[in-house]
Amino acid sequence: MESAEIARRFLRFFEERGHKVVPSASLIAEDPTLLLVNAGMVPFKPYFLGQRKPPANRLTTAQKCVRTPDIDEVGKTTRHATFFQMLGNFSIGDYFKSEVIPFAWELLTRSESEGGFGFPPERLWATVYLDDDEALDIWHNKIGLPLDRIQRRDLADNYWHMGVPGPGGPCSEIYYDRGPEYGRDGGPIADENRYLEVWNLVFMQDQLGEVRNKVDFDIVGELPSKNIDTGMGLERMAAILQGVDNIYEIDTTYKILDKAAELTKTRYGRDPRADVSLRVIADHVRTGTMLVADGVLPSNEGRGYVLRRILRRSVRNLRLLGSGDDRYMHDLTDVAIEVMGAQYPELRADAPQIHAVIDAEEASFLGTLRTGTAIFDVAVEETKRKAGGTLSGDQAFQLHDTYGFPIDLTLEMAAEQGLKVDEEGFRRLMKEQRERAKADAAAKKTGNADISVFGQLLEKAGKVEFLGYDLTEADTAIAGILVDGVSVPAAGAGTTVEIVLGRTPFYAEGGGQLADQGVIRTGGGEVEILDVQQPLAGLFVHRGKVRTGEVKLGEEAHAEIDVERRRAISRSHSATHLVHRGFKNALGETAAQAGSENSPGRFRFDFTASGAVPASVLREVEDEVNAVLINDLKVNAFYTSQAEARAMGALAMFGEKYGDEVRVVEIGEYSRELCGGTHVHSSGQLGLVKVLGEQSVGAGVRRVEALVGIDAFRFLARESLLVAQLTEQLKARREELPERVEGIVTRLRAAEKDLEKLRSAQVLQVAGDLAAKARDVHGVSVVAHRAPDGTGADDLRKLALDVRGRFPADRPAMIVIAGVPSDRPVVVAAVNEAGRDRGLKAGRLVGVAAKALGGGGGGKDDVAQGGGTRPESIDDALQLVQETIAGQLG
Ligand code: SER
Repeated sequence: MESAEIARRFLRFFEERGHKVVPSASLIAEDPTLLLVNAGMVPFKPYFLGQRKPPANRLTTAQKCVRTPDIDEVGKTTRHATFFQMLGNFSIGDYFKSEVIPFAWELLTRSESEGGFGFPPERLWATVYLDDDEALDIWHNKIGLPLDRIQRRDLADNYWHMGVPGPGGPCSEIYYDRGPEYGRDGGPIADENRYLEVWNLVFMQDQLGEVRNKVDFDIVGELPSKNIDTGMGLERMAAILQGVDNIYEIDTTYKILDKAAELTKTRYGRDPRADVSLRVIADHVRTGTMLVADGVLPSNEGRGYVLRRILRRSVRNLRLLGSGDDRYMHDLTDVAIEVMGAQYPELRADAPQIHAVIDAEEASFLGTLRTGTAIFDVAVEETKRKAGGTLSGDQAFQLHDTYGFPIDLTLEMAAEQGLKVDEEGFRRLMKEQRERAKADAAAKKTGNADISVFGQLLEKAGKVEFLGYDLTEADTAIAGILVDGVSVPAAGAGTTVEIVLGRTPFYAEGGGQLADQGVIRTGGGEVEILDVQQPLAGLFVHRGKVRTGEVKLGEEAHAEIDVERRRAISRSHSATHLVHRGFKNALGETAAQAGSENSPGRFRFDFTASGAVPASVLREVEDEVNAVLINDLKVNAFYTSQAEARAMGALAMFGEKYGDEVRVVEIGEYSRELCGGTHVHSSGQLGLVKVLGEQSVGAGVRRVEALVGIDAFRFLARESLLVAQLTEQLKARREELPERVEGIVTRLRAAEKDLEKLRSAQVLQVAGDLAAKARDVHGVSVVAHRAPDGTGADDLRKLALDVRGRFPADRPAMIVIAGVPSDRPVVVAAVNEAGRDRGLKAGRLVGVAAKALGGGGGGKDDVAQGGGTRPESIDDALQLVQETIAGQLG
C-alpha cells in the first residue's frame, strides 16, 4: 500500500467518524518553546490547554514532523528518521479511552478491501501505563485481547509529554509482532525490534509545569478537559504494509536512495557502510527539501542550523560514496520533490526556489570542505613533524567546530595519512561545548516565564483587534501593563512599560514591516510607544515609556500612531511588493522573497538567486517599477481562502501556505501577494523608487536596498547637485563627465610619475657635488649630508648609494644622509667594501645617529636605515656620527 494511500485511509476512517480533517501545519512551529513541529499534536497544544477554541472537538491530521535528537542513529537502525508524517486522531474534551481504543483496533484489523489496514489480530500487542486498569480493562474485556498480550510499562515508555511545559498524559501503545525471525519472544518489553510500535494513544489529561527530562517533571494540575491525542508514524506503517525491512526502503524514500546509488555508482545491499550512507542521504534529502519548502533557510542557529546540518550531512555522505566535487543534490532534490509532491503539490510549484537554496548550500559546503582540507593538511604536517602518530583532540575539535568537519571525516582522512585521532580528547571537548550550550539554554529559560505571562494576558484579554488597516487612532482600554515582565496594576512617569490594549491601531512588527510608533493617552497619563511586538499570535504588546502621570489597568485610553512614519513605512512595503514582482519578471520565478525590512523611506528586499544580479537587471527592474507608479494602479486588500489565493497566482513567502483564510494585497494587475501589512491606496503615492544596489547576504540569497518617495527624490536631488558641481568645475557637459574625469586621472598619474623621476634626478644631481666635497678622515672619505626637507626615504637611500658608487673601489668611503620626508627624521648610512675593511659598519653608525634622533634603527654592514622622532636633532646626529667615525679610525 502506497504511503499516500495509507494517509488517505486513515483520514477517511476518522472523517467518517465525525472528525474534521485539518491539513498539516507548517514545520515551523508557532509554539515559541519549539523550533520545529516534532509531533502531530503540536499545532493543537492551545486547544488542549484551553487557550484557543478548536474548529471542532474531533480532529484528524497527517502532520509533517522533524525530529533530530537521534540524527546520529539515522541509517544505522531501521527506525530512526529525521522527517516523518504522523497520522493522528484527536478529541478535545469529546471521547476518551473507551472510544479511542476500539477506533484504533477497528482501523488496524479491518481488512484492506474494507478500507482498513488488514493486520492479523493475533499479531497485535498493547501496552498500558502501570496503574491504568481502565485501559487494560478496555483492551481485555471490550476488545478481547488476551491478558498475556497486554503489558504494563512505566513513565519512560507509557507517559507522553512534549518535553516542555504543556499537556501530557499516560498512554497505551499498540505493537505489531514481526515474527520470531526478528527477535526474542516476550512482547514489546522484551524486544522493540521484533515488536514494532505502530500507534500511540495518549490520554491527555495533565497540565505539566517544569519538565526536567522524560521521567522527571511536575504535574501542576488537570487540563480543562480529558482529551485524546494519537500518533501513528506513516513511514513505519508503510514499511510494514509494503513488506520492507526499514523506513528507508518504503516507496517515498527508496526512490531517493535509488537515485543516490545510481549517481554514485553504488549498489545498495553490498557494503554495510555504503548502505548507511545511502539511507542517510535518502532520509536527509527528503527532510531538507521539506524544511526549505516551509521557508527555513540554512544558517548557523535555530532551525536554520538544523537544516544546514541535515544538508551538509547529505553532501558528506555523498562524498563518502565517492561523489568528490560532483554536485548531486539537485538531482536528488528533484526526486524528493517528485515523490513528496503527490501529497504536497506546492513542492512542485516551489521547486525552483527549493533548488536555489539547496544548490547554494551544497556549493558553500563543498567550499568549506576544501578550506577545511587545507587546514587538515597543516595539522597532519605538524603532527608528523613532531613525530607524533596522533592528531590531537584539539585539532579534531577545531576542524569540527570551525570548518564543519564531522569527526568521521577527520578519522577517515587521518587514517589515509597513517595517523590516529585522539577521539577521547575530541569527545571531551564536544561534551564541554554541549554543556556550555545547555547552560546557555537554561539561562535563556527565563524567556519561558515571559511567554507564560503573555499567555495569561492573551487568555484574559483575548485576541486583540487590529484596527490599523483603516484607522490611525482609536479609543480603547488598557488590558494589561507589564513592568520587567511582571503584570502590574499601574505604572508611573519614567517607567518603561509593555502595554496591552483591548484593540489597537498600532501595527506590530511582522512580515518585514517595522512597528508603528506613537502615543497612548489615558485620563491620567501618557505613554510614548516606540515598539510594538506580537509575542503570541493575536497579542499586541506596545513597548514604551510613561512620559507623564500614571496609567492604570482597565482605564479607557486613546491610542494614536505617528501617521507620517506609518505612511512612509507603508510606501516602503508597497514598493517591496513591486520590486518582488519586478525581479520575478526579470529573473524568473526562482527570484523568491527570502526576507525584507520595510522602514520609513527605505527598504531592503532579500531574494533567492544563484549569483550576483547584473546592474542592467537592477536598472530594468527599477524602470519597470517606476512605470507602475506613474500608471497609479489601485491597491486592494481582501481576504480569501488559501486555495483561491493560490489559484489567483498570489505570491507567498515559502512558509506562507497555511491557514484557511489569507489576506491578499494586489497592486492593479501587476502584483498580487499574501500579506498582513499596511499599504498605500494607489501606486502613485510612492512617488519614486530608487534601487541603490545589491549584494550577497548568504549562500544563494541576494539583497537589494532601495529608497522610496521623498527619500528617493532627495537622494537623486543630491546626486544631481553633485553632478552640477562637477560640470561647473570641469567645464564639461554632463555626458562628458566620465570621459573627462578619466582623462584627468590618467594625466594626473602620468604627471605624478614624471614628477617623481624629476625629483630623483634632482636629488642625484647633488651626488657628484657631495662626493667631490668628501672629507678625508684618516684615509676614509666621509660624506655627512642633510637633504632638503620633503625628500622621500627612498630618495635618501638612492642618494646614499649613488654617492658611495662614485668612489673608486680601493678608496674607503662612508656616506651618511639624513632628512625629514614628512614629519619624522630618517637617516641612511652606506659603506663601501674598502670602508668595511677598515672596520666601519653602516648598521652601527645608523644606530648611533638614530639614538641621537630619539629613535632606533640598524641593519646590515653595507647599508642601513633608521629614524627617530626629533627632526631638530639632525645636525647634532650627523655631527655625532662623524665624531664616532673619527674616534674609531683614529
Ligand atoms: N503525541 C504522541 C506522539 O507523538 C501521540 O501523537 O507519539
